[in-house]
Amino acid sequence: MIKRQQIKELLKSTAFDTEVTVMGWVRTFRNNQFIALNDGSCMGNIQVVVDFNNLPEELLKRITTGAAISATGKLVESLGKGQNVEIKATSVEILGDSDPEKFPLQPKKHSLEFLREIAHLRFRTNTFNAVFKVRHALAFAIHQFYNERGFVYMHTPVITASDAEGAGEMFKVTTLDFDNTPRTDDGKVDFSQDFFARATNLTVSGQLEGELAAMAFGQIYTFGPTFRAENSNTTRHLAEFWMIEPEVAFADLEDNMQLAEDMMKYVIKYALDNCKEELEFLNTRLAEEDKQKPQNERSEFGLLEKLDFCLANEFERLTYTEAIRILKSSKPNQKKQFKYLINEWGADLQSEHERYLVEKHFKKPVILTDYPADIKSFYMRQNEPDAEGRQTVAAMDILFPGIGEMIGGSQREERLDRLTKRMEDMNIPQDELWWYLDTRRFGSAPHAGFGLGFERLVLFVTGMTNIRDVIAFPRFPKNAEF
Ligand code: 4AD
Ligand code: MG
Repeated sequence: MIKRQQIKELLKSTAFDTEVTVMGWVRTFRNNQFIALNDGSCMGNIQVVVDFNNLPEELLKRITTGAAISATGKLVESLGKGQNVEIKATSVEILGDSDPEKFPLQPKKHSLEFLREIAHLRFRTNTFNAVFKVRHALAFAIHQFYNERGFVYMHTPVITASDAEGAGEMFKVTTLDFDNTPRTDDGKVDFSQDFFARATNLTVSGQLEGELAAMAFGQIYTFGPTFRAENSNTTRHLAEFWMIEPEVAFADLEDNMQLAEDMMKYVIKYALDNCKEELEFLNTRLAEEDKQKPQNERSEFGLLEKLDFCLANEFERLTYTEAIRILKSSKPNQKKQFKYLINEWGADLQSEHERYLVEKHFKKPVILTDYPADIKSFYMRQNEPDAEGRQTVAAMDILFPGIGEMIGGSQREERLDRLTKRMEDMNIPQDELWWYLDTRRFGSAPHAGFGLGFERLVLFVTGMTNIRDVIAFPRFPKNAEF
């Protein structure tokens, strides 16, 4: 068995003069004497002081940036600046060498773009240590939130035969031989000979299966990977991302909004309470990055201020129709500064519009509801037509400053006739979704749910600016490295 102490614990320890063993990766080695050692347990390094007179030259040469070592010695109070404790090493063992000529991480600031190219090593930087600790804490907080409220965690399938969003943005799953694809008489690919004897794809959302479970357990949530083959090369989109999808029976849109707001505040507070060191580091990081920008592009708030502000204020709630009114008469619309001008009711909102609403107009998270039916998914509950005869659905999108859409959800159409009519109109195959429709045939009830894009949450809480930096190995168009 390998015995070692975690650097995180030792940095807080006052057990001076006891013998300790640490194992980690060398960040720097100065003056043939001072090793800054990191083991990932925290962002901080412990200083290991070696006595170069008593260590073989050969060994000293192998203490290089990136090398894995084990060091044993006495924990002592540090006289040097910047640390309270250090280790006076009596022995050092090289566990894994790292050729300093080839190791790409130098003890200096690297750009995030460069680090993305070496994503397999970027965990070894303070920034990514902080980001992934926060990511972990947020995931844990989400489970805790739903567990405290008695929700059942469902694992919905990753491989499905349906398109939950009806948007056709799916990755196909097949074992067919592309060089010798079986064909039907009319020349189409013969999926009956495929692994599942039908066409299948990676899931875009666990919602449909989630609804089935909610109609038995009352309240469930999913937390799993989802896949979208949309060709969006942006700082907000991934082809593989994690989504949290609660679904609640006997709930309407109002309940849905409340659940979403409570959840967001709970998990942000959890991160603030449990990731102090990391968030302070990220706060400083963001502030320094901001200083490089021209005055008018700097953010009004620091990261911690922004998170606190989010906890302290109610999310603004308004309908799509009200939002259109605001956008229509907004300065950027009047002055034709929007790329997509808002001329009439029914327009789909682009991220420039969403950002105007949250960042310029309300300056806080906003919940938009009751969108036109035409721009939303088939499963959303149909409202009564408004005074002007326009058809809306009980949808909600939650928009966050700096992010845009954080959450998308709705009350579901629980009336079988309404639902099948809508599916017909939208060309959604009903025979494939017979099991989904069964919930409306047997004990249908009002229910609602939403999907939170986990990486967008991590983006918001860490203050990072590119979604590719908050998931370990991002998947996006033309990239599936690692
Ligand atoms: O709005 P979306 O497409 O909604 C659904 O999938 C519903 N089935 C959810 C539900 O009601 N149960 O996606 C939900 C959220 C978005 O608000 C966004 O945060 C995130 O998922 N999202 C993405 N995140 C990263 N990359 C992408 N390509 C994303 N597409 C959606
Ligand atoms: Mg959406």
